[in-house]
Amino acid sequence: LPPLPSLLLSFLPPILPSKVSLLALSSLTGRQVLTPFPGLGTAVAPAQGGAHLKQCDLLKLSRRQKQLCRREPGLAETLQDAAHLSLLECQFQFRHERWNCSLEGRTGLLKRGFKETAFLYAVSSAALTHTLARACSAGRMERCTCDDSPGLESRQAWQWGVCGDNLKYSTKFLSNFLGPKRGSKDLRARADAHNTNVGIKAVKSGLRTTCKCHGVSGSCAVRTCWKQLSPFRETGQALKLRYDSAVKVSSATNEALGRLELWAPARLGSATKGLAPRPGDLVYMEDSPSFCRPSKYSPGTAGRVCSREASCSSLCCGRGYDTQSRLVAFSCHCQVQWCCYVECQQCVQEELVYTCKH
Ligand SMILES: *[C@@H]1O[C@H](CO)[C@@H](O)[C@H](O)[C@H]1NC(C)=O
Repeated sequence: LPPLPSLLLSFLPPILPSKVSLLALSSLTGRQVLTPFPGLGTAVAPAQGGAHLKQCDLLKLSRRQKQLCRREPGLAETLQDAAHLSLLECQFQFRHERWNCSLEGRTGLLKRGFKETAFLYAVSSAALTHTLARACSAGRMERCTCDDSPGLESRQAWQWGVCGDNLKYSTKFLSNFLGPKRGSKDLRARADAHNTNVGIKAVKSGLRTTCKCHGVSGSCAVRTCWKQLSPFRETGQALKLRYDSAVKVSSATNEALGRLELWAPARLGSATKGLAPRPGDLVYMEDSPSFCRPSKYSPGTAGRVCSREASCSSLCCGRGYDTQSRLVAFSCHCQVQWCCYVECQQCVQEELVYTCKH
């Protein structure tokens, strides 16, 4: 069974290489124009005919997962969207770190037990949970629909524009998709499964209930409520905080249960001997490399743009930085003209750019 992040990574080559293909992807999936509430009965058509079958074959999936994919038109595309979302979020959250989530050709990280590995597992499962739930409420999947808020029919919900994100379906689907016994054998497998769950939990804790009134001129004769996921950026931020406070674990055999458990050794000076990590903690087993020089884990930090006040010294790993000046244009001396527009002049300013030395 392929672990989730490498599954998501297997979609990246066709998605990532250039901005052009990113745009192509978003126009193909119609993301900008995606109406959350398709008209009754006319769900946004998933891949026509057998196209989704071909998409499923191209993905790196186990046999069982391929079957699930073939049975559910719309899933292949949802998986791709999730891969895209998790990568963009990872790169955003790590934009100021030495490891900036550039993964192309450097997937060695996935086989290790670093904090970064933990984040990748969590952000991938979070993105997939989120994207699936949204795909349900957008009518892009045949087998699921709006969240089952009591007393609300899906048809009605779409009509009123109150289709909730179906988190229940998406988490159930995900655990089925990942397989029943995702490894309980060794420490790595336990940690990966734990971090995957941290991602799912992070999405769950962002679920909010929103309500809307209907009736003659806002009389609120009928009030409907539905569930809504928070923007994925917030989930990404929450996971980044978890990364910053990740817990290093080792294994301990639980004598009573006769199986391996994750175990976080006590901090220095603490009275307890150690604890199981909390369900929301990201866990890791190995200290990360410095990520300063190119390796199979990262391209290093040479050439990274940094801020002289804030980040250059740590980002450049003591190698120093180059300073370049460039001219940037901006609007200035703006005046309001009668009536009703603002007229500006173009000004040019010199700006210094700092980049880490090789
Ligand atoms: C990450 O840093 C490398 C240089 O070390 C750079 O080439 C790459 O574009 C950066 N990636 C992102 C997503 O910023």
